Amino acid sequence: MVKARKIVIARVFQGEPRMEDFRIQEEELPPLRDGQILVEAVYISVDPYQRALKDKHQVGSTMIGSQVARIVESRAAGFPVGRHVVGYWGWRDRTVADVGPDTPYLLSPPMLVPDLGRLPLSLSLGVLGMPGITAYFGFLEICHPKPGEIAVVSGAAGAVGSIVGQIARLKGCTVIGFAGSDAKVKWLKEELGFHYAFNYKTTDAKEALKRVAPDGVDVYFDNVGGELSSAVINSMRMWGRVSICGAITGYNSADLPKATIIQHAAVFRQLRLEGFMYSRWHDRWDEGISQLAQWIREGKIKYHETVTDGFQNTPKAFVGMLQGENLGKAVVKV
Ligand SMILES: NC(=O)c1ccc[n+]([C@@H]2O[C@H](COP(=O)([O-])OP(=O)(O)OC[C@H]3O[C@@H](n4cnc5c(N)ncnc54)[C@H](OP(=O)(O)O)[C@@H]3O)[C@@H](O)[C@H]2O)c1
Repeated sequence: MVKARKIVIARVFQGEPRMEDFRIQEEELPPLRDGQILVEAVYISVDPYQRALKDKHQVGSTMIGSQVARIVESRAAGFPVGRHVVGYWGWRDRTVADVGPDTPYLLSPPMLVPDLGRLPLSLSLGVLGMPGITAYFGFLEICHPKPGEIAVVSGAAGAVGSIVGQIARLKGCTVIGFAGSDAKVKWLKEELGFHYAFNYKTTDAKEALKRVAPDGVDVYFDNVGGELSSAVINSMRMWGRVSICGAITGYNSADLPKATIIQHAAVFRQLRLEGFMYSRWHDRWDEGISQLAQWIREGKIKYHETVTDGFQNTPKAFVGMLQGENLGKAVVKV
């Protein structure tokens, strides 16, 4: 009999999640049926949407989330033993999973990890996975950046934002990032090639943009929402484009936070604002991943991972990520 550990919600989150909101449980897994695989998690992803999807936070339910896992037993065609697969199976170290085409899934269906060559497997949860696809298509297909334009990215030192800023630089934009610490700001400027970066906790964003982009901002990739985004959008020039990726300023609040209105700027400067889910480009996944992998191999894009060791420390990694402790992608090595 195979045993598994899972991390369940012990208490519904009030504001920022805390360690005592989680507990570890053991369970015995059933034998495999046709169409199923047994997987062992190698890395578990911690992501902001796990906080945002509040209807998934029932007491006793396994915490939602994705992982990259090794197939150790298989009764499913196309999922051979030994291959790695990314699946939204939650915070579990072992899982018996249905992988048939009709199996319901949280955000994406189980996907085999392609050959990454010398690149680490964990990247399939980061720049070569969902956050990478989010950055690549969410920026290029919505912001349509042109050489010489001014691009602003919030959440700039995170999994998505750090890649968006580098793509913007590759496309010939002047790149301005906002992140939550001086160390992150230094990293963005000195390692990732952002032209300007600011600590949004200690800088007046409107003043900073007036200084470094006096004629206005052309494109904005919005990871955070709230007052920072109002400041950026109110600093845009005619025909600006805004890709609305996330709104982490509001994820821990019971009510939606308030911010300065942006409609005046949107109307008179004829801005285009568009929200998206990365899954819109599911059928172009390989295209996005191949391009990102090529840029990494060519040294044009850098990535960083904040790796927490040990399955039992997954809540710690999650809580820390929401508080901004991560540089680049936050993952847990099981
Ligand atoms: N639309 C989609 O399909 C899609 C897909 C993936 C992700 N997303 C969204 O993209 C955003 C970034 O996700 P990610 O995976 O790359 O996470 P991440 O940026 O790697 O990690 C979250 C970061 O959010 C920042 N943060 C926390 N509270 C904040 C606040 N009140 N104001 C401003 N920043 C705050 C922290 O950085 P600081 O130190 O800078 O504060 C933290 O490191 C999230 O909003 C997420 O929901 C959307």
